[in-house]
Amino acid sequence: MTTVLVTGGAGFIGSHVCAALLGHGYDVLVVDDFSNSTSQVFPRIRKLTGRRVGAVYALDVCDRRALAAVFDRHQVNAVVHLAARKAVGESTRSPAQYYDTNVGGTTNLLWTMHEHGVHRLVFSSSCSIYGDAGGGPLDEATPARPTNPYAASKWICEQILADVCRRCPEFTVTSLRYFNPVGAHPSGLLGEDARGVPANLMPYLAQVAVGRLARIDVFGDDYATADGTAVRDYIHVVDTARAHRIALDRIADGPGMRVYNLGAGRGRSVLEVIAAFGAACGRPIPYRIVSRRPGDVPELVADATAVARAWGWRPTRDLAGMCRDAWRFQRLNPDGYVRQQSARDRRIGAAI
Ligand code: WQD
Repeated sequence: MTTVLVTGGAGFIGSHVCAALLGHGYDVLVVDDFSNSTSQVFPRIRKLTGRRVGAVYALDVCDRRALAAVFDRHQVNAVVHLAARKAVGESTRSPAQYYDTNVGGTTNLLWTMHEHGVHRLVFSSSCSIYGDAGGGPLDEATPARPTNPYAASKWICEQILADVCRRCPEFTVTSLRYFNPVGAHPSGLLGEDARGVPANLMPYLAQVAVGRLARIDVFGDDYATADGTAVRDYIHVVDTARAHRIALDRIADGPGMRVYNLGAGRGRSVLEVIAAFGAACGRPIPYRIVSRRPGDVPELVADATAVARAWGWRPTRDLAGMCRDAWRFQRLNPDGYVRQQSARDRRIGAAI
């Protein structure tokens, strides 16, 4: 049995990754600071998989002492590192915080892993490192030109991981460059429940559809795209989680660092997604056009042939399915995970 530590395991992607790993026989530990998540996901993960997360620790991955205590207490075989701040717009307003959490958290984890003889890592990276690379599918050789601190933090982490792998042959790292993970578990038990007003498109649409928000602002319709709104490559969060499980299955394929794009290879505009969500929830979503969001780029679409060739991984759900699942979660959980944010969640460094 392999024990995997998932940082950020209570989050949107993290909770789906935990369910995928438990469902495939891995033992799972979680550390999370609960700044954008809740421990309410764990009874739901148990209901879904029939298995429970072995231990959950409320801590900040930048807290070296608290993180080391977890590795002292458990025999960790591999790590999936998801804990990060991830809102493009927010990163342009708070760059130092993004570099501190995303880069500082990663280097702290890396050193703590090394000190405890743990050298297998799956890293959550992002297509946003490609920046404004022009239209068309982007492969992993596309030069990185990040246009915002979130994207730059991910690119910096990848360069650090690549250098460590070059100099320390015991490390094996797989970096997954997500395009846009959206949707929810088809059961309606797990989904995206951002704290406060969502920064991302799909959860915002879900909250408009359920009546929590009045309408959505479309950030610009003056891009050089078919309908003027920005184009992204959306993938279902369950497909994204499956890719992490496969990455762990294959982590021992050889030393060094591998990088894979996780995308569908098909771009959809903001207006297309708004229309698809309206179809899923059975009523049109009110919107208005406003100015562009700082840090945004016109188009990001994946060439994901490398991961398909290496692992046979391909997305299995289309945009209609993503919207249908996101809407089901929101409809069944109109106020998200009811945050019974207990004192336990707030006690940093403690098992909860
Ligand atoms: C999508 C499109 C917005 C909100 C995300 C994650 C990032 C990374 C990549 C994993 C953009 C537009 C949005 C709104 C809008 N994922 N939009 N009105 O910026 O592509 O980045 O995917 O690493 O972590 O944040 O996703 O959902 O914020 O935006 O018009 O209220 O929708 O301008 O074109 P983004 P997003």
